Amino acid sequence: MFQTQNTRKPFAVLSLILAALIALQACSPTPATPTVPPATETPAPPSATPAPLYKDADAPVAERVADLLAQMTLEEKVGQMTQIDRGFLVSKDDIAKYYLGSLLSGGGSVPKSNTPEGWEDMYDDFQSIALSTRLGIPLIYGIDAVHGHNNVYGATIFPHNIGLGATRDPELVQKIGRMTAQEVAGTGIDWTFSPCLCVARDERWGRTYESFGEDPELVQSMATVIDGYQGTELSEGDAILATAKHFAGDGGTTNGKDQGNTEATEADFRALFVTPYEAAIKRNVGSIMVSFSSWNGEKMHGNQHLITDVLKGELGFKGFIVSDWAAVKQLKGDYAAQVSTAINAGIDMVMVPDDYQTFTLTLKNEVNNGHIPMSRIDDAVSRILTKKFELALFEKPYADRTYAAQIGSAEHRDLARQAVRESLVLLKNENNLLPLAKDLDTVFVAGKNADDLGNQSGGWTLTWQGSSGKITPGTTILQGIKDTVSADTTVTYDREADGLDKSYQVAIVVIGEMPYAEFKGDKLLLELDSIDLNVLRKVKEAGVPTVVVLVSGRPLVVTDQLPDWGAFVAAWLPGTEGQGVADVLFGDYNPTGKLPHTWPRSMKQIPINVGDSEYDPLFPFGFGLSYP
Ligand code: BGC
Ligand code: BGC
Repeated sequence: MFQTQNTRKPFAVLSLILAALIALQACSPTPATPTVPPATETPAPPSATPAPLYKDADAPVAERVADLLAQMTLEEKVGQMTQIDRGFLVSKDDIAKYYLGSLLSGGGSVPKSNTPEGWEDMYDDFQSIALSTRLGIPLIYGIDAVHGHNNVYGATIFPHNIGLGATRDPELVQKIGRMTAQEVAGTGIDWTFSPCLCVARDERWGRTYESFGEDPELVQSMATVIDGYQGTELSEGDAILATAKHFAGDGGTTNGKDQGNTEATEADFRALFVTPYEAAIKRNVGSIMVSFSSWNGEKMHGNQHLITDVLKGELGFKGFIVSDWAAVKQLKGDYAAQVSTAINAGIDMVMVPDDYQTFTLTLKNEVNNGHIPMSRIDDAVSRILTKKFELALFEKPYADRTYAAQIGSAEHRDLARQAVRESLVLLKNENNLLPLAKDLDTVFVAGKNADDLGNQSGGWTLTWQGSSGKITPGTTILQGIKDTVSADTTVTYDREADGLDKSYQVAIVVIGEMPYAEFKGDKLLLELDSIDLNVLRKVKEAGVPTVVVLVSGRPLVVTDQLPDWGAFVAAWLPGTEGQGVADVLFGDYNPTGKLPHTWPRSMKQIPINVGDSEYDPLFPFGFGLSYP
């Protein structure tokens, strides 16, 4: 347990260990099992041994960090820099054996019982193992809570960022961050891998919906969500650490290829993709995740200039840098070279996320053979420990179960509904077809996204790529419509629009994309699929006034179909509160949403962005109608 890599000063290290052991025995409720006999020459009476400085909640964080760091072996330091997905733990005891500093849940990496209690129990169990180690350093547990606490069954699912960009409402977005943090805290978790401050410039990119929009200023304005996540003080029970990701240029890759290459001069690269991080750092964002992508052919994970010189130096970032999922393995050379390149570039914690045995051994070797200076390790560990102290993890390491009641609460769902209303963008409204009267006799609803919680929530919902169907409690758009119209109105629903005829006063057609996430969402053609075209054909044949609601993670090319539609609403990926869509359609809310992306006329125009010298889109960036 106490092997140390430091062979030059064995006595100093041994006496430190002994002192720590004695201190531990004196103050911890469950005494550590000593593997080294107590030193007889320094028999301080237990009552006289003060608790180590780092355990003193009143001591300044910097002093606590220095005190703890001075007592750590290389092995313990390496452990702090290691992050493993819970699913890759061979044995829970490895948390202690390898001194792991962090665990994560990747998309869909959930406990057997996906309930608040199931999460809390899992978290507390892992945490108790971390606390059983010599120095008792708590874990920091991270998760992708990117539109609410989206891996958790029953959580409130907010609109994806593209919809929040359309609201142009940074205060609302901050509140969403606050409520999401409460739901995350309700499962014990300390840290979210959000917000994505990507600036999506090419809608073929499958992560376009994770971006607040195509304009860096718009993206920057939404950094308020960080204040929501992190609360007024990180030490508050319902504050969680935020992550600005993916640094940088993830949204600017050629042809919108996920993990691709962004080609730009440094000045352009900074103006488009680095400015949002300045806003995040001003808001004291706790961590920043590096992008899988490359800049001018060089992988961001090895870019010392941008990570260390620019982020940590020039922009004064004081938090810690985390790598993306197995991204270190994409660097050049053998594994040892990949690890040392990443750490020397300035990465502080590695999302390994699987083989911790090889990673920890490799990192230790790279320090011992001089490829990574000890000063770099100490900087990395200090940054991580600083956040752990600021989060008060040493004082409150376990889940605070009082917050679980917030998960999916009525108050949170109300805010999500408000966000949905504000995110809708009205793009066409011929003869003021909208708002619809609530007392129509007959309404026909059709389309594959009208009655599907999974489809209206998109990727990163319960699972990584998301899926169709009743994946979690919520209100579908169809249900919202039914709950809005008068008691005398007949709402008829058929997914394929079968049975629609002239007798209906209006058809509401809810179409668009099906759930996807990174990689799988990259598409060459952004057009309506054959299922939607088929439904639209039947609706046109029926000759009924048509309202089209597009549920999608990005603009789709609809130039040929648009003339057939009386009204057209972009609803993005609204999440679980479909009532917000009905609120707009029936006039309980007068639309205010503005396009966060330029709407292209054709695939040939993509990429097309506000500020382009040639700019003739179907609808420009910022466009959005209201009711008279
Ligand atoms: C994604 C990140 C995410 C991480 C953990 C990666 O594949 O790029 O955005 O935070 O996985 O799930
Ligand atoms: C994602 C994880 C996900 C995993 C599945 C990663 O790229 O980021 O969240 O669980 O792939 O293999």
